[in-house]
Amino acid sequence: MMVITKVGFARALQRCVTVANASKFLRCQTFKLFSTRSKICSSPLVKQYSTTMASTGDRIKYWSNRWDEGSIGFHKDEVHPMLIKYFDKLFPSGKTGRVFVPLCGKTLDMRWLAGKDISVVGLDAVRMSLEQFFSDQNLQYTEEKAPQLAENGALLKSSDNKIHLYLGDMLNFSPDVEGTFEAVWDRASLVALNREDVSKYVSIIKSLLKPGGRCLLEVMDYDVSIMEDLGDLSTRPPPPHPMYEAELKQLYEPEFTVQYLDRCERLLAGKDIHLQVFLLTKQ
Ligand SMILES: C[S@@+](CC[C@H](N)C(=O)[O-])C[C@H]1O[C@@H](n2cnc3c(N)ncnc32)[C@H](O)[C@@H]1O
Repeated sequence: MMVITKVGFARALQRCVTVANASKFLRCQTFKLFSTRSKICSSPLVKQYSTTMASTGDRIKYWSNRWDEGSIGFHKDEVHPMLIKYFDKLFPSGKTGRVFVPLCGKTLDMRWLAGKDISVVGLDAVRMSLEQFFSDQNLQYTEEKAPQLAENGALLKSSDNKIHLYLGDMLNFSPDVEGTFEAVWDRASLVALNREDVSKYVSIIKSLLKPGGRCLLEVMDYDVSIMEDLGDLSTRPPPPHPMYEAELKQLYEPEFTVQYLDRCERLLAGKDIHLQVFLLTKQ
């Protein structure tokens, strides 16, 4: 196991000429670091990532191509079993509140939550995902501009006003747009984002939850080296990027507690991986 010092890490990073190479390099180092959890507390990984932010257009292009091609294997034709199983953890007192669903795609989970008389706010950067949500669910909606999100931001509202879906880049979202929330259902966002966007994404989620608010979260955890025989790791997979419990703790603590809830096995590109579910609670 190689131990990476802060200086050594920065020098090595500078040697990576392109963003793709840097990204690949970081993923390899991430696995090496997190495979020995005791080393993570002193890791500068998250801060290093935040220095090379892409523009909104670059960030979204990959996903808009996937929606155009119908390459949306992440979408489930059922309500997520872990949301059903752990829903009560989001609202332990039984009193519900508003739920934010970041990077929502067209998940059926939003309809299920709204059926519990909960106001749901979703956000995705790809228009097709939001339009398909309403058409798949046979729901009428109206559309208005959302300049508080971005110049070309939009808000699609179900006619019963229970579901608000924002069209825009998550990195531009803030409590100024829709206030704060009692709960967040974060399925596969942290594993979908560019690594350099993770730190900012987490700071936005932290700001969106009220004190005592809870976030139910699903991420994937796998050893990137098992994917090496697939070829160029900068184009397939990741994403989904692996996200380890130690990295989650580094990102969310001490403002949040991070509680492991569950895990299950899955195949990704024919390889064994794990899905892990956590409950994050704001102090
Ligand atoms: C892995 S999918 C998860 C979808 C959804 N959570 C689900 O369970 O089906 C990632 C989604 O995030 C969207 N996305 C990626 N980057 C984004 C960003 N920066 N802002 C908003 N949406 C983004 C993509 O269009 C895609 O629909």
